[in-house]
Amino acid sequence: MKRIGVLTSGGDTPGMNACIRSVFKTGVDMDMQVMGIYHGYKGLIEGRVDYITHEMVENKMHKGGTVLRTARSEEFKSEEGTKKALNVLKAYGIEGLIVIGGDGSFRGAEALFKLGIKVIGIPGTIDNDMGYTDFTIGFDTAINNVMNEIYKIRDTMRAHDRVGVIEVMGRRCGDIALWAGVSGAADLILVPERPMPWEDAANILAANKLRGKLTSIVLIAEGAGSSEAFCEYVRAHTDVEIKGTVLGYIQRGGNPSAFDRVLAARLGQRAVELLSDGKGGYAVGIKNNKIVSVPLEQAVNVNDTFDDKLYDLNSVMAKF
Ligand code: F6P
Repeated sequence: MKRIGVLTSGGDTPGMNACIRSVFKTGVDMDMQVMGIYHGYKGLIEGRVDYITHEMVENKMHKGGTVLRTARSEEFKSEEGTKKALNVLKAYGIEGLIVIGGDGSFRGAEALFKLGIKVIGIPGTIDNDMGYTDFTIGFDTAINNVMNEIYKIRDTMRAHDRVGVIEVMGRRCGDIALWAGVSGAADLILVPERPMPWEDAANILAANKLRGKLTSIVLIAEGAGSSEAFCEYVRAHTDVEIKGTVLGYIQRGGNPSAFDRVLAARLGQRAVELLSDGKGGYAVGIKNNKIVSVPLEQAVNVNDTFDDKLYDLNSVMAKF
């Protein structure tokens, strides 16, 4: 394979730049030309394609965001849109494509693969909601970002004997809430995978207050409800003083952690190796600290697993 392309798609994640760098350098080392596609599938349809250069990736791996920019494209989801994208790839002579993104981006990758393009998916989403891989690029940075904010919020909540509710990202997945909650010693974690009636949650907070624990920290994944609605519920049903914070995009930006940079480098390398072996239609990931590749079709259909044991561990830690 002489010419490959790489794009980032969907929500950006810290570590995407480290991954682009790895794809570029591994490709160049294998005598390939590496082209960057700007603004994900949207840019692909519009032909926003150019060579990646050393200058583009130099001194960028430590930065969040993505030098290739990203986008969500409705047009690409249509048959016509996918065909337009295919024509652009053909016009540029791109024989293999690497897509860095989440499960929506992988479905797009699968569609292109079915039209005959060799595509490899690299998991990049802070949500960690892809079941075929233990970790996605950006998740580790996001939970570290959240953990650091928890301690700031706890300081001020303690000063006022308040309960602090922190809403974190994760549309369908509670992993950010779970891992940040465990590392930040949360008193209660509300996630879609372990639905808890708000009545029970409010009772826990009221009981904490009664036993003298005046400050509790609650992590709520956006998929389990909003912090605002939860705070209103607790105010209406208990005498607990409660304040909510929506962390929002602060958790998706910033310098990637060492773990994310290393993961990004390893996954980028494997993706290029697969293309160089003439293979397409795979997603790369990490299982038990080994880099693995599974068919894209399988990757998008594996249900995400939730670590119930970790959730239960936190419940015990929060008991006393
Ligand atoms: O998919 C990653 C994610 O960060 C979700 O957790 C969140 O719901 C969503 O992206 C936000 O996306 P947008 O950038 O479109 O607001």
